[in-house]
Amino acid sequence: MTITRRYRFCAAHRLHSDSLSAEENQRVFGKCNNPNGHGHNYVVFVTVTSDEVGEMAVIERLDQTVGETVLARFDHQDLNSDPAFANRTTTGENLVKLIWDLLAPKLSGARLNKVGVVETRDNYFEYVGEA
Ligand code: NI
Repeated sequence: MTITRRYRFCAAHRLHSDSLSAEENQRVFGKCNNPNGHGHNYVVFVTVTSDEVGEMAVIERLDQTVGETVLARFDHQDLNSDPAFANRTTTGENLVKLIWDLLAPKLSGARLNKVGVVETRDNYFEYVGEA
């Protein structure tokens, strides 16, 4: 059995790669390359598997871990300023994988199954770890 919890945070970002020219950045990232950046109301789905009896305990611990590890780090921040994004663009793909990498070692009593990130109405990113 799996449990999925939904979390939310608001953050700013700008899609930009220092290894591309201004024209290439504009072509690849479009309006997301706007120098002033823009914000998203990110929604994060965290799915875990637990053998423990008592889902309330699992949920409580998950809420605490996600709060400390993900929400406290990203909410109302500029993702481009986060050290983890020093050498990679703040795409949804990279963000969902980063959230997985931050959470996986921190969970106790539960195994991380899947992380999903909703960035915009139409963009949803999902990561289930290495194959
Ligand atoms: Ni964006």
